[in-house]
Amino acid sequence: MPTWSSLNFQDSASPGMEQLIFFHDFTMIVITLITVMVGLNMVFICSYNLTNRFLLQEQLVEIVWTIFPVFILLSIALPSLKALYLLDDPFNPSITIKAVGHQWYWSYEYSDFPDIEFDSYMLPEENSNSIARLLETDNSLVLPTFSQIRVLVTGADVIHSWTVPSLGVKADAVPGRLNQMMMYINRSGIFYGQCSEICGSNHSFMPIKVEAVPMSYFVNWAMSFN
Ligand code: CUA
Repeated sequence: MPTWSSLNFQDSASPGMEQLIFFHDFTMIVITLITVMVGLNMVFICSYNLTNRFLLQEQLVEIVWTIFPVFILLSIALPSLKALYLLDDPFNPSITIKAVGHQWYWSYEYSDFPDIEFDSYMLPEENSNSIARLLETDNSLVLPTFSQIRVLVTGADVIHSWTVPSLGVKADAVPGRLNQMMMYINRSGIFYGQCSEICGSNHSFMPIKVEAVPMSYFVNWAMSFN
């Protein structure tokens, strides 16, 4: 969950999110270097009374600052495409869950089991002893760790968006459409998210709570629905 004064992403709990954090950090380094280099150039030019002949009209420097950015852009585009395609790859899901956005709560269906479907409402602050204000739900989405999980997302009324930052997933829940994403949770824990598409007056009050547990716990939980 988010914490006060944190300037970075939430701790990752999936390989996909690790890729995204790596790509973000890498791009930040590139941006910082470009800013410093361009800044130094401007200081350099200004301190020569805007009459530096090398930087303002010189064939070599023109060639360099045309060719060099091409390679910088390539070095950003390639890892970006790699992460994009990895996140989109369906692999072989061992379990499929369906998340349906309603005004204003989520409902979940476990398509591999006959009877598991339930609604997930936010718990009001006064009813929950938790520190996770506006994030706690009455029923959480229980999922197994170390398994390929497919999430199918759709909306029942308007567009919502199913998002869990530490798992690196976000997909619009569009009525009449089914969006798909893959999750692989590599540690047990509770991961929170919120609806991320303005969907009406209670948009802020339809949180997502994922409870990741080892497979044996998950099987026990699933059996308890019969
Ligand atoms: Cu549902 Cu915003």
